[in-house]
Amino acid sequence: MRIGLLGFGVVGRGVYEITAAREDMQVVKVLCLEDVTLPDAEVTRDYNAILADDTIDTVVEAMGGLHPAYEFVRGAIEAGKNIVTSNKALVATFYDELLPLAESKGVQFRCTAAVGGGIGWLSELGRARRVQTLRQVGGIMNGTCNYILDSMTRLGLTYADALAQAQSLGYAEANPSTDVDGIDTWHKVILSSNIAFGISLEHDSVPVAGIRSISAEDVAQFTAHGYVCKLISTGKRTDGSYSVYVQPTLVAQGEPEAAVPSNYNLITFIGDTSERMSFYGQGAGRYPTAYNVVQDCVDLLEGNGFYSVYGEKIKAVNDDMLCYYVRGAADAWLESNKADAWGEAVITKPVAVADMHAWLKNHPGAFIAALPIKN
Ligand code: HSE
Repeated sequence: MRIGLLGFGVVGRGVYEITAAREDMQVVKVLCLEDVTLPDAEVTRDYNAILADDTIDTVVEAMGGLHPAYEFVRGAIEAGKNIVTSNKALVATFYDELLPLAESKGVQFRCTAAVGGGIGWLSELGRARRVQTLRQVGGIMNGTCNYILDSMTRLGLTYADALAQAQSLGYAEANPSTDVDGIDTWHKVILSSNIAFGISLEHDSVPVAGIRSISAEDVAQFTAHGYVCKLISTGKRTDGSYSVYVQPTLVAQGEPEAAVPSNYNLITFIGDTSERMSFYGQGAGRYPTAYNVVQDCVDLLEGNGFYSVYGEKIKAVNDDMLCYYVRGAADAWLESNKADAWGEAVITKPVAVADMHAWLKNHPGAFIAALPIKN
């Protein structure tokens, strides 16, 4: 395999290092805007030098962001090159364009590192759906949020201090909003649901609530009631309808998610045959992420292209009924759905996920967290 590598940052450099030690693949050209010299690959600032090189059969995209990654990946597919990418924003956003295009051009497309970094989550999802119907996917998919929530819960840090630490450790992406407002998790659950269920979700139908407004007082309430707060994604299929959302969620102490430390991920699927299967590991970082990029390249060499068929456009209905912890705003709707109070926060009666998120849109400073469903 002869690889054109787009990007030489955290992930790109890791891919270069791992492939340098292999016989079956070689990075021959690297798109990089900085002055870098590599012993066995040509470094170029010109994407067209990679596109026009007919000896390059596979493009590995490790630039991140939507543009120009989209234009470069699309161009490479049209030129007949296979794609491996770790870019969840790109794949989630252009899923219903890039996947059919790759199929029509007869090229392969893999993106395992886009969800869970070093965890072989998407690969296993693709395998899982070959022999069973998947009912649910989701879990802790963002290491930065887990680091912040874990530091607040175990060490008693304020949100601002925990975020500053996550940034100084290099966990948070350039713009912390992508992580703390749940956008990164949103991309990941959309992509996971598309692959698990063989659909193409309408993005606007997937609501997201992040952790930006959580306070130390909220965390103290959760601890006092025996809960740990985590940013949890959910993708569910029930009788042919779908509920897909991202929100802070209270997990009972003793549940596996409650014990996930630092910046780790814990992602789960539930299938008709396997029941619950969970995957734990490093969701980010140079070598874990590059590891899965190289795994995808090996899969391409073995003829394993994409994970699932591309499916029909679907709107998530989000009619699950959940109780919520709500703090930071009040109105008649909230009052009419009040069941209890924890300090200054309201605990709601069961309300539809879609209704709670519609309310939050009109009260953007408020903090919400779903309570677990009592069996
Ligand atoms: N910023 C992400 C996280 C890593 O914190 O999990 C890349 O997906």
